[in-house]
Amino acid sequence: TGHVTLDQGFMNTAACTSAITYIDGDAGILRYRGYPIEQLAEGASFLEVSYLLIYGQLPTATQVEEFGNRIRLHTLLHEEMRRFFDGFPRDAHPMAVLSSAVSALSTFYQDSLDPFDPEQVEMSTVRLIAKVPTIASYAHKKSIGQPLMYPDNRLGYVENFLRMTFGVPTADYELDPVFVKALDLLLTLHADHEQNCSTSTVRMVGSSQANLFASVSAGVNALFGPLHGGANQAVLEMLQQIHDSGDDVDAFVRRVKNKEAGIRLMGFGHRVYKNYDPRAMIIKKTAQEVLGRTQNADPLLDIAIKLEEVALADDFFVSRKLYPNVDFYTGLIYKAMGFPPQLFTVLFALGRLPGWIAQWREMMADPTTKIGRPRQIYVGEPERKFVPMASR
Ligand code: CMC
Repeated sequence: TGHVTLDQGFMNTAACTSAITYIDGDAGILRYRGYPIEQLAEGASFLEVSYLLIYGQLPTATQVEEFGNRIRLHTLLHEEMRRFFDGFPRDAHPMAVLSSAVSALSTFYQDSLDPFDPEQVEMSTVRLIAKVPTIASYAHKKSIGQPLMYPDNRLGYVENFLRMTFGVPTADYELDPVFVKALDLLLTLHADHEQNCSTSTVRMVGSSQANLFASVSAGVNALFGPLHGGANQAVLEMLQQIHDSGDDVDAFVRRVKNKEAGIRLMGFGHRVYKNYDPRAMIIKKTAQEVLGRTQNADPLLDIAIKLEEVALADDFFVSRKLYPNVDFYTGLIYKAMGFPPQLFTVLFALGRLPGWIAQWREMMADPTTKIGRPRQIYVGEPERKFVPMASR
């Protein structure tokens, strides 16, 4: 009953109030808990930012150390859960493995499922942040046929993830401090983005009072798609295709403008930003730094820079306010660090995790929260009389 308004894609409908992230899409502003993303990127680690998003305040040195130590205690996966990875085909997409494994956390950690018990919520929060890097690296190891690496809790969060992903038990793994810093920064830049598709999914699932693991695994699946987190993999594939086809950038941009076969310039455009994505601005600088270190400059970086130049000077993109988004340059950095394209979206998930958790917790703590249940405009048949099988 009452008036129902159609708003496909929620272009103009707020589904909640939130005190976590502020975006001004016209001005290209992003703040977590009031702090500008540029300042957090410069001065805070990913763990500090995770703490900030979840608990609302920047941690003191003691608080972040204590937080890190709590996480450290939970980096191992249950041994039975390790076996879980054997069941998937070798060529499975790691995002599919990740969402399944996160969902499976509900089966192994049944003592932290009650969304209204603060201690259990705290426990599932710490477990998720601790175990998702382990799961992500196992998904990768499985796909390349290498032994799974146990976490090394002497290392920091990002260091540990890199070692589990690239290390082997037969040799010491040498961490490259530039890569550690770059990955920490990229995770920070992905850590929250208010009511995007995956976060809205986490809230929607959680609004039925489903547990945190179940809600986050749904978020991982939402992130999988190429219009959302999957864009970082799609960008690299696009750059590679342009490179391999020997096409020039102008020819590719012409095909995008003609909407040939629905192709889009991946890594461009955003529902909220109608200006340069502030995260892309920071990432572009990092890309140039990290790629400057690898022996042979990646020709794909030149293609990306040229694409950006051509698009930003073209009325098709200017009039539609299409600018590079967070995903445009990330793939190039991940590639330079040695990550295969299939793992790029998993890195996005790792970064977005504290945001999903913070948003879920904010919703659960809000007594005015209601189950998510959109309305519809029915456009089907009016009432008609049932026809028995014999007369159809
Ligand atoms: N390349 C070419 N044209 C585009 C693009 C693009 N990347 N993005 C939007 N357009 C055009 C679109 O064709 C439409 O033109 P017209 O008015 O002639 O039909 C107009 O711009 C508006 O597009 P829209 O699809 O209605 O905009 P939206 O707000 O629904 O979509 C978006 C936002 C991010 C899904 C879209 O810009 C897109 O598909 N971009 C490419 C994928 C991508 O990079 N996604 C990552 C988003 S940022 C981080 C994340 O969420 O993961």
